[in-house]
Amino acid sequence: MTSHRHPRAQFSSKFGLIAAAAGSAIGLGNIWKFPYITGVYGGAAFLFVYLGFILAIGLPVMLSELIIGRKSRRNAFGAFKKLAPGTPWMMIGSFGVAAAFLILSFYGVVAGWSIKYIIFSITNHFHNSTPGEIAQSFNTFIADPLSPLIYQVIFMVLTGAIVIIGVQKGIERYSKVLMPVLLVLIIILDIRAVTLKGAGEGLHFLFNPDFSKLSFEGVLSALGHAFFSLSLGMGTLITYGSYVNKNDNLINTALQVTVADTVIAILAGIAIFPAVFAFNIEPGQGVGLIFITLPNVFMQMPGGHIFSILFFVLLTIAALTSAISILEVVVAYFTEELKIKRQISTIFATALITLLGIICSLSLGIFSDIEIAKRNIFDFLDHISANILLPLGGMFIALFMGWAFGKYRVFREVAHGGKLKGWLLKIFMILVKFVAPLAIFIVFLQGLKILDFITTLFTGK
Ligand code: TRP
Repeated sequence: MTSHRHPRAQFSSKFGLIAAAAGSAIGLGNIWKFPYITGVYGGAAFLFVYLGFILAIGLPVMLSELIIGRKSRRNAFGAFKKLAPGTPWMMIGSFGVAAAFLILSFYGVVAGWSIKYIIFSITNHFHNSTPGEIAQSFNTFIADPLSPLIYQVIFMVLTGAIVIIGVQKGIERYSKVLMPVLLVLIIILDIRAVTLKGAGEGLHFLFNPDFSKLSFEGVLSALGHAFFSLSLGMGTLITYGSYVNKNDNLINTALQVTVADTVIAILAGIAIFPAVFAFNIEPGQGVGLIFITLPNVFMQMPGGHIFSILFFVLLTIAALTSAISILEVVVAYFTEELKIKRQISTIFATALITLLGIICSLSLGIFSDIEIAKRNIFDFLDHISANILLPLGGMFIALFMGWAFGKYRVFREVAHGGKLKGWLLKIFMILVKFVAPLAIFIVFLQGLKILDFITTLFTGK
């Protein structure tokens, strides 16, 4: 069915697509960001709202991206140019490229921390340290004007190199084996964490919701994180969908990736919060939560030294497979739309993103006084990209699916590789036409305080 002169490469197996999409989804978002923001926004209530968004918005948007990709056989930007030429839908692709740029800049910084923690683990740096000293080490490290930059650059060069050499497939083959190992390791950590003295309080924090404590900002973050964690809203999965075989079952793929991603996040939470309370660590302290908590847990484990090396190696690899998928969005845009050579595109994009990342990293140290909208640069970029650009992208993707692409084409596209029952199609169409866009819109109005702003504008109060 390929009408182009060069048929596009395709995933060789169903598992290839699932491994690639899961490799993109599972990363720092699950293990670093999820516990940290769950801590900041007060625990269980945040978790449940997040799960609700995954089901009602994440899943349908994921399916939509895969459908758009497979139908158009283009990158995120080109897809809309092909399916809806000359219409404003093409904006979606631009949002995506912008979001990819911003996300990878701070993502590389945190991945750099993970590399540093491999070294801390190898040298047994935290041996016999108190929880206070471990926190101190982390804070000193990230505020250093040089050291974190070195690790960030190492990570970014690695990411760029893999994209240039084009060995993503090879990496995915490894990560197919390594990610299950990471899962086992997290489960071992879970067992250690929940058997710590005082662990119950952590489980209570994570699973016993008090919705009265959840702010609108928390709800907005839960929405943003649903997109961030599932790699949605900027066309990553449109690009992946474009490589999918006509006969693959898109519904199953979307379901499996979503379940895997969510399970890993929750298991990471179970490894962190019991330990947070057992060691008297402040759950809402922010970006350092896992780096401050986990070394304490490793110290309380037989074989903790080896486990901690293994854990941070695997976390870095998980971050790498995600980072590759983010960089791909930018590179695909440069090569397919601006017709710049792939190698040059990759070097150029990686360099620019690394530079912005350096500023991000410094904003946790020497530039910490610089604030944009009451946030440091690191938080600001995270907020703009995850909480605004991704949901906005997702809202338009859902609207496109529901109103422009239409029920008939959805049916034809999904029915290729699986049966689409009538009632499922109905639910899907209701979700993408109304539920997802409206929910995102309302959360925006509240979470960004736009209503407040408008009221003040008119009433002066
Ligand atoms: N989902 C990844 C994580 O959880 C990060 C990521 C990869 C991403 N690709 C993306 C986020 C595309 C948003 C959009 O670590």
